[in-house]
Amino acid sequence: MAKEIVLSGIRSTGNLHLGNYYGAVKNFVRMQDDYECYFFIADFHSLTTHPTPADLHENVKAVLSEYLGAGLDPERSTLYIQSDIPEIPELYLLLNMISYVGELERTTTFKEKVRSQPENVNAGLLTYPVLMAADILIHRANKVPVGKDQQPHLEITRKFAQRFNNMFKTEYFPLPEPFNFGKDLIKIPGLDGSGKMGKSEGNGIFLVDSPEEIRKKVMRAVTDSGPTQPNQEMVEPIRNLFYLMDVVSAPDTAAHFREKYNACEIRYGDMKKQLAEDIIKVISPIRERILDISKDNAYLKKVATIGAEKARASAAKTLSDVRRIIGFKSF
Ligand code: TYM
Repeated sequence: MAKEIVLSGIRSTGNLHLGNYYGAVKNFVRMQDDYECYFFIADFHSLTTHPTPADLHENVKAVLSEYLGAGLDPERSTLYIQSDIPEIPELYLLLNMISYVGELERTTTFKEKVRSQPENVNAGLLTYPVLMAADILIHRANKVPVGKDQQPHLEITRKFAQRFNNMFKTEYFPLPEPFNFGKDLIKIPGLDGSGKMGKSEGNGIFLVDSPEEIRKKVMRAVTDSGPTQPNQEMVEPIRNLFYLMDVVSAPDTAAHFREKYNACEIRYGDMKKQLAEDIIKVISPIRERILDISKDNAYLKKVATIGAEKARASAAKTLSDVRRIIGFKSF
């Protein structure tokens, strides 16, 4: 039986952080043996925030090294750069014809961008979910490992796939599902007390952070003055610290500190020290591999070239089918 298809991607706007790792990359790494896997760097998507020409390629290179350091294996997965695959923008154009301005304007991620960068509400932001749908549908993916923040985009992708199928009376596109090995999609919190860990929020722990940087960041994480009654409900910054601990530490470590919290005996300093060491344990081997790989330009070039070839073969097949379904014919 043919393997199910898995696809995911990350914008090339900055270094990978723990949120990217646990939300997408780690799941993907575990799927490489059992699925046909595509993982790419979304450099077109990074243009919605206007990077400078001097940074664009360096950012792509950094993310590629980080993918490889985190365990993506170019022998088992197809790793590629979005802008190397011209079939993606063509599918994006075609999908734009079946997407409605109203539904794009209502997307939560678009509304957030309008609020956060009112000086640059470009059409690329509005059609960001269409490009993302093209990324996913170009390989007819079944499963998409992503964090919780990407759920609205996956819903739109499913809508477009279903609409295309209805419009052209076909079952060509599967309806892709967001995926996480745990039951629910996850949102790794930042260390600043509220919201998610992000690339530009200044609240992240990055896969390239040194142990000293990690210790410093974790020790600075926002806390409160401690519980005053047994089993007191946690405020958000404390809940977030426990959430992180649940993700990175051994189960009995988190249970130990929860007990201390519930008995009003918690010392946040001790908890943070433990959390920092557990994060370092996860990140250190990845960081070492990233530092090695990022020096090896020839290897990175080879990975990107082979990945582009494999991704284009799959993308060209889909696009040719889609053109035929829509009614294009050559003379
Ligand atoms: P991006 O680059 O913001 O994030 C990449 C992946 O990391 C996940 N993620 C998180 N997961 C949990 N907690 C967090 N704090 C956290 N922060 C980020 C994201 O959910 C995502 O899975 N639009 C996408 C890139 C993209 C894409 C695609 C993804 C373009 N085309 C097609 C999947 C399929 C983005 O900006 O992700």
